[in-house]
Amino acid sequence: MRPPAGLSLYDSIAELYDPWSVSVTEDVGFYVEEAERAGAPVVELAVGTGRIAVPTAAAGVRVIGIDSSPGMLEVCRRRGELAGVSELLDLRLGELEAPPVEERVALVTCPFRSFLHLQDDDSRLRALAAARELLLPGGRLVFDVFAPSAGDIADTHGRWLEREPGIFERADWDSQARTLTLSVRGESGGTSFVLAWLSNREWRVLLERAGFHVLNCFGWFDRRPHAGGEDTVWVARRPV
Ligand SMILES: C[S@@+](CC[C@H](N)C(=O)[O-])C[C@H]1O[C@@H](n2cnc3c(N)ncnc32)[C@H](O)[C@@H]1O
Repeated sequence: MRPPAGLSLYDSIAELYDPWSVSVTEDVGFYVEEAERAGAPVVELAVGTGRIAVPTAAAGVRVIGIDSSPGMLEVCRRRGELAGVSELLDLRLGELEAPPVEERVALVTCPFRSFLHLQDDDSRLRALAAARELLLPGGRLVFDVFAPSAGDIADTHGRWLEREPGIFERADWDSQARTLTLSVRGESGGTSFVLAWLSNREWRVLLERAGFHVLNCFGWFDRRPHAGGEDTVWVARRPV
């Protein structure tokens, strides 16, 4: 399920992405707060259409946004223009495993489960090591991921559900391989991509192998400690 070179599986849903994710708002304040605390510039990996980056720029923090989808970056550019924050958005086409960033920053983020696009430990370690390289000593990597519960898998497996009016989503779970094939379709396009999940313990081990010190593993964006739920929000520091 690889797109042709230079394209991304997200290109065909670039116009659909914002209406599809319109109800996902719980993480915005959290990431904006992290950016304000760190100071500019921040690097957002897998910046997408700027769901987080545009409000971050609107709060006055310059964002270097990396994404492998030209279509998503184009939507982000337009959103930035509409919000009057273009000069605070530096959008660059690139990969999680080799972000084209020379700058060294106090905060690198990867919101909305985007690290789950990485399919094996080698690519995860490359991406985490690349994020670490972008950080100043003491700087922080902040990202969120999930691991589904058996109940979530049973409730959604193999069924088209109307997530938003006219936008349908289908989850095909493989509990053995620990992958989710997520499909979405709407009037302006559709796509399918594979997400691969890990246990919390595995994320922690990978972070440590990549040279991070784990500061927090929250269970939600209100910073409550993780207590066994599906979502985790990680804060890891590059040692001084
Ligand atoms: C779930 S969206 C998240 C977008 C945005 N961060 C948000 O919170 O709405 C995932 C994004 O990751 C990007 N992406 C997927 N694989 C990538 C990779 N290997 N390198 C860079 N970007 C990638 C996609 O193009 C898409 O924009």
